[in-house]
Amino acid sequence: MASPTLTTPAPVLRLSGLSHTYTGQRHRATVLKNIDHDFHRGTFYAVLGPSGSGKTTLLSLASGLDAPTRGTVSFDGTDLTRIGLGRYRNKHAATIFQQYNLLTYMTAVQNLTTAMEITGTRSRDKKARALELLERVGLDKQQATRNVMRLSGGQQQRVAIARALACDVDLLFADEPTGNLDEDTAAGIIRIFQELAHDQNKCVIVVTHSQQLAAEADHTLTLRKGRLSA
Ligand SMILES: Nc1ncnc2c1ncn2[C@@H]1O[C@H](COP(=O)(O)OP(=O)(O)OP(=O)(O)O)[C@@H](O)[C@H]1O
Ligand SMILES: [Mg+2]
Repeated sequence: MASPTLTTPAPVLRLSGLSHTYTGQRHRATVLKNIDHDFHRGTFYAVLGPSGSGKTTLLSLASGLDAPTRGTVSFDGTDLTRIGLGRYRNKHAATIFQQYNLLTYMTAVQNLTTAMEITGTRSRDKKARALELLERVGLDKQQATRNVMRLSGGQQQRVAIARALACDVDLLFADEPTGNLDEDTAAGIIRIFQELAHDQNKCVIVVTHSQQLAAEADHTLTLRKGRLSA
């Protein structure tokens, strides 16, 4: 009989007993309640849930931007607090933020090359790679070399996507990455996520309201009342 360790691959990301509470001056809000979930390489996940259900909070804990009130997040079996949140974000995880978080005084190309430098991503010609990735998300050379504040919202969103693609990491987190895109452009981005998971063996986790995106994911999870369910 096959050993269970051969048939069940180890998860790249594990959430164990994860809870998160925001504490204000007058009130406390528990947004996530005792979440346990494993995420695997080679898989594209969509997390759905109403506005305010905690999707961005969940991503910020899973991507090492914030530490949970209770429970653990582990990468390849090691607790993020042992890896160090900063090191984890630099070496293992890339995030496409809901608000893009681009460096606004730079061009699209510079946003990508800066990310490659910060994360130590090796590339013979960083600028050429940046242009290639920006073209892949539908931006031409003229748009790629313009200050990002002079691009449309959807174009800025695609710069944020290309920037995450520029860093060669195991985990890609995306917060509503197609929210500002038309249906055709969104379909192109969804194909890129599928390719990353299925051809490059990455783990892609996207939180979204988009049924179009969720329908294309390998697994859909729902976050409601602090709980994550399949
Ligand atoms: N820094 C914070 N301090 C206090 N409360 C917060 C903070 N960030 C988020 N919240 C609250 O936590 C809850 C979950 O917020 P979160 O941003 O995770 O939701 P979401 O599912 O991503 O929503 P949306 O779909 O609108 O982006 C909300 O009620 C929000 O007001
Ligand atoms: Mg959100």
